Amino acid sequence: MVSADRVKLWNFSAGPAILPLEVFERAADAVHELRAEGHARGAKGVGMSILEISHRSKPYEAVTFGAEKLCHEVLGIPETHQVLFLQGGASLQFAMLAMNLREAGKPAAYVDTGVWSQKAIAESQGLGETITVGSSAATNYDRIPAFPEAASYAHASYLHITTNNTIFGTEYAEIPRAEGGVPLVIDFSSHAGSRPMALEHAAFGYAGAQKNLGPSGVTLVYIRKDLLAKKPAAHVPVILRYATHAKEPSLYNTPNTFGVLVLKLVLEWMRDAGGLPAIAAVNERKAGKLYAALDGSQVFRAHAQPGSRSRMNVTWTANGAPEGEREALSERFLKQAQAAGFDGLKGHRLVGGFRASIYNAFPEAGVDALCEFMAEFERRL
Ligand SMILES: Cc1ncc(COP(=O)(O)O)c(C=O)c1O
Repeated sequence: MVSADRVKLWNFSAGPAILPLEVFERAADAVHELRAEGHARGAKGVGMSILEISHRSKPYEAVTFGAEKLCHEVLGIPETHQVLFLQGGASLQFAMLAMNLREAGKPAAYVDTGVWSQKAIAESQGLGETITVGSSAATNYDRIPAFPEAASYAHASYLHITTNNTIFGTEYAEIPRAEGGVPLVIDFSSHAGSRPMALEHAAFGYAGAQKNLGPSGVTLVYIRKDLLAKKPAAHVPVILRYATHAKEPSLYNTPNTFGVLVLKLVLEWMRDAGGLPAIAAVNERKAGKLYAALDGSQVFRAHAQPGSRSRMNVTWTANGAPEGEREALSERFLKQAQAAGFDGLKGHRLVGGFRASIYNAFPEAGVDALCEFMAEFERRL
């Protein structure tokens, strides 16, 4: 059984990522024996493990429909939209959404905020005309670009944005509205469930669960119900149609049963922690402390600009140090940090430097410890 003292490292991984200890414990219990009512606390065991039970069974239906309900209640996904639990990661959604949401004779519009939006753009380009209507490439994606003028995407099938950029550490302060009835599509993988969000502004949203929501292998999708009836521009294989997965909600083929259970347990943990407003307050404080430490440093520099800074993925470099010393200093910092129990701080090669992913379940004490460690490192230079 998982215990508190198993945590020997501060896990700053960008995903799969840290989950609440209580969720590990309840998930382990369900591996031994699933309980009735979607693994409700104190409910009777159903005589089978979550790993062996059929997805067509009543106990599993309680898990998946319970998880769906919590997505509306806890995450604030509006009832006008269908919730789906799919497989293939957020990456499959890059292709699937482009296949399903593209209308004949209309381009697809994207805002380019870095690696993940570029991967989404590439899938769309393989399927038809694709236009980029905003980008922060010129400043190495250190900010969210101004929201595009309506005229630039008015003729598009949809407008796609990546609302939190895991690699560059930027985040839309609010979910914007697309004008002229153009469906807004959001990849909100790396900040889903981190704060109250106007999810209703998007006609379609998707998030790989493996950051704030659960384990890898489950992708949360929500789609405005009228879009399910729309005819795509070209043939879409049955398995890749949203309508297929909506008809028998998330039960068309064998789902990731364990992953959906864990997602449900995470949503219950979020609800019991006070819901998104309470979680957002803690996230705000954690990110605030880290950015304050970076802004006060002579050595370290936050990559993302104020106003665009992610509260989930904080990226920084050693660019305050003289140019010739940066590389050696960065290596030293990472080595010492690892030895001191800070795991997963190496930044993506495109930004260089460091990244601390501080998702919902990441303890504030770990942020305090990192701030102290950075200050001590700098004092000793
Ligand atoms: C914003 C964003 N979109 C998409 C992906 C791809 O997700 P997956 O690995 O689930 O395909 C990631 C992965 O980290 C991500 O951070």
